[in-house]
Amino acid sequence: MSISIPQHKIDEVRSATDVLELVSGYVTLKKSGRNYFGLCPFHPEKTPSFSVNPDKQIFHCFGCGAGGNVFTFLMRHEGVGFPEAVKFLAQRAGIRLEFEERDETVNKENETLYYTNEFAARFFQETVLSPAGKDALRYLNDRGFKMEDIQTFGLGYAPPGWDNLLNHARKESIGAEQLARAGLLIKKDDGSYYDRFRDRVMFSIWNLSGRVVAFGGRKLREEEDAPKYLNSPETAVYEKGKLLYGLYQTRDEVRQHDRAIFVEGYTDLMSLVARGVKNVVATLGTALTEDHARLIRRYTKNVALMYDSDTAGSAATVRGADILLAGGLDVSVAGLPAGHDPDSFARAVGADAVREHVARAVNLFDFKLNQVLAQPPEKRTEGIRSLLDSLAKLTDTIKRSLLLQRVSEALQIQEKILWEEMETILRQKRIGQTRRSQLGERLTDLSRVSKANKKEAAVADLLRILIHDWSQAEFIFNGLDTDEVGDSRLISILVYLKNLFKSGGRPDEMDLINRFNEVEISAFIVKVLNESWQEVDLPRWAGDCVATIKIENMQVKLNAIREQIREAQNRGQSVKELLSLCKELEEERKKWQGVRRVK
Ligand code: CTP
Ligand code: MN
Repeated sequence: MSISIPQHKIDEVRSATDVLELVSGYVTLKKSGRNYFGLCPFHPEKTPSFSVNPDKQIFHCFGCGAGGNVFTFLMRHEGVGFPEAVKFLAQRAGIRLEFEERDETVNKENETLYYTNEFAARFFQETVLSPAGKDALRYLNDRGFKMEDIQTFGLGYAPPGWDNLLNHARKESIGAEQLARAGLLIKKDDGSYYDRFRDRVMFSIWNLSGRVVAFGGRKLREEEDAPKYLNSPETAVYEKGKLLYGLYQTRDEVRQHDRAIFVEGYTDLMSLVARGVKNVVATLGTALTEDHARLIRRYTKNVALMYDSDTAGSAATVRGADILLAGGLDVSVAGLPAGHDPDSFARAVGADAVREHVARAVNLFDFKLNQVLAQPPEKRTEGIRSLLDSLAKLTDTIKRSLLLQRVSEALQIQEKILWEEMETILRQKRIGQTRRSQLGERLTDLSRVSKANKKEAAVADLLRILIHDWSQAEFIFNGLDTDEVGDSRLISILVYLKNLFKSGGRPDEMDLINRFNEVEISAFIVKVLNESWQEVDLPRWAGDCVATIKIENMQVKLNAIREQIREAQNRGQSVKELLSLCKELEEERKKWQGVRRVK
């Protein structure tokens, strides 16, 4: 499917993405003046020449000439095209792209799903406050949930009975089939429908745009012989691996505390919130995913996992935490005393103690190391491999080797052996990256095109002149036709500037940075903007460049004519006309060579 993303969406995605935050996920940066510096990810180097400028939202390497905005950074780093880069960053920022909306039927269906879920949420919320919801409200109060939180998080109650929601929907002309598509009804073999959620406390699940996309329902009566939790099935607007429960409501707290506490479920989250620990999110009964990492990274780099200490599920989740490391997050584990889950723990010790506990959370590596140490030596292999896997995910290589040293000491295994094992893991990782770097190496620095390609070099220089001194535009564009420039890779900038000139406009720095989405062109512009020129005779230089382009063009023509002359002579034909054409061209060339002063 070919897609075209409307400009306003591209702009929205760009402004929702911070270049510093994005690049920091790949490069360790240090502040120096207004800019940040680090080792360039696009060429090997030992001293940092790669810089990020948060004011202009650009990156630039003084060493290899790489440069651009958030999109071209990603294109270059991941070896993807522009649409993929926009899509990736849109997803990261929780922005729905227009081309998804453009498909009207999809858009309409999603809107229907939101609408249906929001209708149901209202019903559940109204019911919990009605006489029918008395027991459920008492249950929520008994668990310590405050009225305010119940409302903020959209908690409610689905009454017992098979058709409460169904009947209520009928009054608002919402069809059974529609409710079933949203996962709220279940269809029987005979074609009739019944309510999925009955006699359950309802947790509404919101996406980051504040729309209700699904529900979790906990049985109200323990003695009921039914599963403790029932959840909405996944739909077009609900993918468990792409959502974090509560994040819509807690994201400001997450940002303020610069940390997200991950718990396993609805009640753990609500319980912590009720006690005043509000920087919490919950996974929705799935393993951690890259999308989770991406979602949370927008608000903080620090994640503390707070899972029940003794469940099989939590062991698996801690194993899955590597995915958060790979997403550039700092992960720690706030293990709980045996028999506790975050809810019971918070109730037992209170908010302050929970916060202290989180502050003392053990770094994921130490946590894994302790787990390995708890095993008898002959059973440690798997744990050690898992540790090395985590280490391989680190982007900071110094940190990695320090940690490896620690592992070696703690486990009394020679560092050399650990390194060999790690190398194997890294090698496998690198295989996946080769494609990217091969792509990277083919890129040229357009502002440094070789002397052999004089014409392209002249075009590049003209653009540099135009970007630095717009007053040269008149001379350049009156003297040079874009046709004469031919197939330069920089032609799109030249055409853009020419149109701007003709319409009486002038280039704007931010516009230039963000208008061109090709990796090389974007790098070219950023590089030019970073150049500082003093005491260069720009008019003279511009004249030289224009002359060079004309001369190069004439040379091409001359070569062709000379070839024709040779052929005609071989056939014994007259070359008189060709010769005079040749002379004309040579003369004109001489004229331009006179214009061009020595460079
Ligand atoms: N869960 C689920 N479906 C289940 C069981 C659990 O979706 N059948 C999810 C829920 O999000 C739940 C979380 O896993 O909140 C943790 O489950 P569990 O520890 O069993 O429940 P608690 O959250 O402790 O619930 P409660 O305190 O109400 O017993
Ligand atoms: Mn619990």
